[in-house]
Amino acid sequence: MRSLILVSNRLPIKLNSNGSLERTTGGLASALEGAGLDDNYTWVGWGGSSPSKGTKTDEFLEQMRKLGVEPVLLSDEEVNGYYEGYSNSTLWPLLHYMTERARFQPEWIRYYRQVNEKFADTILNIAAPGATIWIHDYHLMLLPKILRQRRPDLKIGFFLHTPFPSSEVFRALPERDELLKGMLGCDLIGFHTYNYLRHFISSLIRILGQEADVDGLQYRNRRIQLGVHPIGHNHHGFKKAAKSDIFQQTYKTHREQLEDDKLILSVERLDYTKGVPQKLDAIRHFLETHPEQANKVYFVLIAVPSRRGVEEYDNLTEEVQCAVSSINGTFGEVGHAPVQFLHRSFALEELAALYALADVCMVTPTVDGMNLVAKEFIDCKRDSHRARPGALILSEFAGAAQEMSHALLVNPHDTVGVANTIQIALDMEQEEMEARVQAMQKRLDLNHAGAWAKRYLTDLENASQELPCSNEE
Ligand code: G6P
Repeated sequence: MRSLILVSNRLPIKLNSNGSLERTTGGLASALEGAGLDDNYTWVGWGGSSPSKGTKTDEFLEQMRKLGVEPVLLSDEEVNGYYEGYSNSTLWPLLHYMTERARFQPEWIRYYRQVNEKFADTILNIAAPGATIWIHDYHLMLLPKILRQRRPDLKIGFFLHTPFPSSEVFRALPERDELLKGMLGCDLIGFHTYNYLRHFISSLIRILGQEADVDGLQYRNRRIQLGVHPIGHNHHGFKKAAKSDIFQQTYKTHREQLEDDKLILSVERLDYTKGVPQKLDAIRHFLETHPEQANKVYFVLIAVPSRRGVEEYDNLTEEVQCAVSSINGTFGEVGHAPVQFLHRSFALEELAALYALADVCMVTPTVDGMNLVAKEFIDCKRDSHRARPGALILSEFAGAAQEMSHALLVNPHDTVGVANTIQIALDMEQEEMEARVQAMQKRLDLNHAGAWAKRYLTDLENASQELPCSNEE
């Protein structure tokens, strides 16, 4: 039986093509490593894959359990309806203000309910009396209420990693009441920013007629706490990476290749919220208006493949590939293409080296719950002997902008403004770069991922559950 259970759609474990399992270093997993928790916790989630052919389900479960996780196995229909459908084709665009991209299909919510119930079954099999359950993200908005109804003794927290949009957008969702009531099964609901919290409160009043203030609400016979907990980056992981051989080798190779040229770096999942087409428009405009720069800069776009199989993502990949080759066709020379599009994932050590080396980092999503790349880049500019100074261009629509006012803040839709900011970043004096970076580091040091997890869990422990809950609707 477990006294602390983490729950997220994706487990921090990867199934390799040879059938072996491996721990990955995602943001959440590293947050827990840095939080100084004892090992008496487990992680419930979907493995993102099923047992390979020839592996028995029992053996697969056993293998996963040895690594400290408790998998929820999903059928192909469930993956299609709950993950690709309701989570990623309905909720994801809607939570990011993209109502016109959101698709609504009645059968998807049925799978979403079914899978949230499945998660509850797995959790309740292993939860000790009075256990703390920390649920993450939009895939599992119904889960708090299901757990509350079945086990009122549990301490239940929910953290939303995406924005919570204006109530005018959220109310477009046919199941808006059901989802809000689902979340209200919690003792603590956390968001990245005050804006998201305010929008949630507006939805409660406009959709459910439920009053709340920024600290929380009285719901039925319980007190539910609301809080702002901006997530931090994996500081310990990047610190360790900077000492590795891979870091040294990557840094050295690219340092030599660059000579006096400038490296302008972007790192993101290839997602339509990340504003990649808008960024490419700004790059094109920059090259048109500063033709003398075309063979002196390298725009390196690392776009990690994501959610393949969801139509919107496949279309985006094609759109981005076309735009990149059009820019290179127009502005490239023999031996120099100004934009390098790298459509794959990179090891943490390689990323750390590229951050340390980059003269500019462009983080320009059109909407983003937080964006940890902005924080990672600044963190990797720590030692002047191993990192070159750099400037951060940051979208004002990323949650991170609220903590990083010393970045060059831009509106990603303003092509001319972003293009001009690229030149401002390239012209910035070293002294100014360092002053800005240090101001941001000072703030980030107080809230790295481990500190974030610890603070959230402490707030959850202190969240009061005034009366035992009997009859949740
Ligand atoms: C966003 C979500 C996370 C999710 C990640 C990767 O950051 O907030 O919950 O894990 O994207 O998406 P994927 O669909 O590949 O799990």
